[in-house]
Amino acid sequence: MQMKPEEIQALIDKAKEAREFSYSPYSDYMVGAALLAENGEIIIGCNVENAAYGPSNCAERTAFFTAVSKGLRGFRAIAIAGGKRNGESDFAYPCGVCRQVMAEFCDPDSFLIIIGKSREDYRVHTLKELLPESFGAENLNF
Ligand code: THU
Repeated sequence: MQMKPEEIQALIDKAKEAREFSYSPYSDYMVGAALLAENGEIIIGCNVENAAYGPSNCAERTAFFTAVSKGLRGFRAIAIAGGKRNGESDFAYPCGVCRQVMAEFCDPDSFLIIIGKSREDYRVHTLKELLPESFGAENLNF
């Protein structure tokens, strides 16, 4: 499903708000995500790091796991806003693990991944573009 520029910009705004909550004392790379569910709800997430590094969680997965824990299952789009703490914002693309989590819950042809450097400067991709030929439940005959 297509999104209007105003809808995209509103989602980027939420991702930027979520980024302010980033707990990233080790990388100083702050990421926020805003996940739009099919029912219109927007669930936010930020990256949450850990002194042991391994237990750290990306912003996108924080948003997905929060949403799924609230009973939500269908999703339309996610906006991501990231960059170094005191630097310029980046085009912060989701890591491979987060793309795989998206594939568990989202339709690859219609789910939109919005990379928001700013509300004027953003890129929109389908999940299929960022995770082609993915492994999924169908491989396990589910
Ligand atoms: N990070 C995210 O939150 N999302 C991504 O897709 C890539 C990386 C976070 C993880 C870590 O806290 C910091 O950015 C640096 O890798």
